[in-house]
Amino acid sequence: MKLQRKIFALLLLMSFTAVAAAQTVTRQDYGKTSTGEYVYLYTLQNSHGLEAKITNYGGILVSLKVPDRNRKFADVVLGFNDLESYLTKNDPYMGALIGRYGNRIAKGRFTLNGVEYKLAVNNGENHLHGGIKGFDKVVWTGREIKTGTSPAVALTYLSKDGEEGYPGNLNVRVVYTLTDENELKIDYTATTDKDTVLNLTHHSYFNLAGEGNGDILNHLVSINANQFVPTDAGSIPTGELKNVAGTPFDFINPTAIGARINQDDEQLKFGNGYDHTWVINGKPGTMRVAAEAYEATSGRIMRVLTTEPGVQFYTGNFLNGTLTGKSGTVYARRTGFCFETQHYPDSPNQPSFPTTTLKKGQTYKSTTIYRFSVKR
Ligand code: GLA
Repeated sequence: MKLQRKIFALLLLMSFTAVAAAQTVTRQDYGKTSTGEYVYLYTLQNSHGLEAKITNYGGILVSLKVPDRNRKFADVVLGFNDLESYLTKNDPYMGALIGRYGNRIAKGRFTLNGVEYKLAVNNGENHLHGGIKGFDKVVWTGREIKTGTSPAVALTYLSKDGEEGYPGNLNVRVVYTLTDENELKIDYTATTDKDTVLNLTHHSYFNLAGEGNGDILNHLVSINANQFVPTDAGSIPTGELKNVAGTPFDFINPTAIGARINQDDEQLKFGNGYDHTWVINGKPGTMRVAAEAYEATSGRIMRVLTTEPGVQFYTGNFLNGTLTGKSGTVYARRTGFCFETQHYPDSPNQPSFPTTTLKKGQTYKSTTIYRFSVKR
């Protein structure tokens, strides 16, 4: 009886805390860039107490606090404590919006409507993540919004014709929403005044045990894909799609990230671990499950849903212990993983891949959801 009363009191308290947590979006100053542009930090909170902090510098998700099975909150994304660090140290693109083209374009060249465009070569002999100053390094215009009951922030950016070598004045809008279903939803739209190519994504490094809390090798991951995109040694697709069955790339059933990552496999060697695009089952353009990760000590689950044809699963292979994160811990190799929903790499040079051409007059639309829950 006593126990029952205690449980009842606890439940009552929990429901009050749930009600007490308001759905809010607030803005605070976050500093200035070296050229004097003002940067802000937007805090989104849902009614279950989940909290996302996003800055309009690079559209970076600075922190994301979600509960474990005991309602203990932890920040599950890697990152830094201040703007200065993001301005000077964010080579791994932590938490950032990536554009115009997420992933690689071979030799930084592509031809569209008979014109050859030359982009920055910033990754070996290839172009990576939009170039020298991609969308991860520009100041977006931010605005707090409420879509229904969910707090959101809308980020807009005009990328001028010729920026980083890409054609067309491109108007981009990205909305981050923290829903009451415990989802961080990202809606991307864009229009151009000249035909161009576009492949937008989000580059958070997740660690569901909490950032700074060890490596991610014990996370159980499943990826809803029967095929992946094999690459050459420079991580440029060969053009074929390969069946995952019988390879270390088969994540149809939940498997520990570390279970096969060091196997003697050519593709794993090329990627220095997992750093590949999986071809998500189902119809591109429709919302479907891309992947899921589960961390047993916390019970946290993250499910990724998207309208994109692919997801780049990157296991933080290039983190090398030179960066110190938010909780003062050094980010060693494989202490975070990314699910970058996107089109396949080098699509502008691969006629058989789903197109990344955005024509004048068309509207680019893409949605990705990171949904959090727990297993008891
Ligand atoms: C992507 C690339 C990786 C690496 C990371 C950031 O995932 O595919 O090779 O560049 O971004 O370091």
